[in-house]
Amino acid sequence: MSEIISKFTTKIIIALDYSDKNKAFKLIDYLDPAIYRLKIGKKMFSIFGKPFIIQLKNLGFDIFLDLKFHDIPNTVFGAVSAAADLGVWMISIHISGGSKMLQAAKLALNSFKKDIPLLIGITVLTSFNEQDLREIGVNSSIANQVLMLSTLAKKNGLDGVVCPGTESMNIKKKLGFNFKVISPAIRLKEDPAYDQQTVITPSLAKKFNVDYIVVGRTVTFSKNPLHTLKEINSFL
Ligand code: C5P
Repeated sequence: MSEIISKFTTKIIIALDYSDKNKAFKLIDYLDPAIYRLKIGKKMFSIFGKPFIIQLKNLGFDIFLDLKFHDIPNTVFGAVSAAADLGVWMISIHISGGSKMLQAAKLALNSFKKDIPLLIGITVLTSFNEQDLREIGVNSSIANQVLMLSTLAKKNGLDGVVCPGTESMNIKKKLGFNFKVISPAIRLKEDPAYDQQTVITPSLAKKFNVDYIVVGRTVTFSKNPLHTLKEINSFL
């Protein structure tokens, strides 16, 4: 295990949550697609749709289409199939949709012979604290809930999960080092910022063997995004 840990590299996915495409390109133009992957979420996909994904793919970027599908199995089957048709690298679905929904998502990818997107499950949102879990009827701790949902995701053939970085080692120990962990809410200091509760620094993410950190506002709201990216890279 120590060998696996020492060879571990944490990679960066940039969350492009802009409403202005030109602003997004001010950052993208400086990014090397060999180093950075891009995450397109509900906002940019709703505004700019498929042509934007194709534009970014043509620039050589791997795209994480983070639409967090959660619906009846038949609907998720169709949504995952359509997302995979876009040629994206990674797709997200909510694990709390349950086994039938997860299997439908997996089945949708069966017809794709090559460039099959990674299917990633959302565990507990990093904006949640334990009170928020109680409000929706969950009595477990964040750690237990993340581990339970991750186990369900693995059982149903998903490639990995999105979770608070602090839970990464628990997941890796229980579900293996090949099961991918993607962690958002990356901050240079351990202060919750904006709407995120379970934040983590890049160096802790690396220490906990997070495969990919999702970096959003720490870079996109920075006065000097490239300098901030350089700083983040220096910890990885
Ligand atoms: O760094 P920042 O807090 O801006 O990053 C948040 C990004 O990560 C957003 O795009 C959000 O949708 C995404 N995300 C998240 N929590 C999850 C999954 C994705 O914050 N569990």
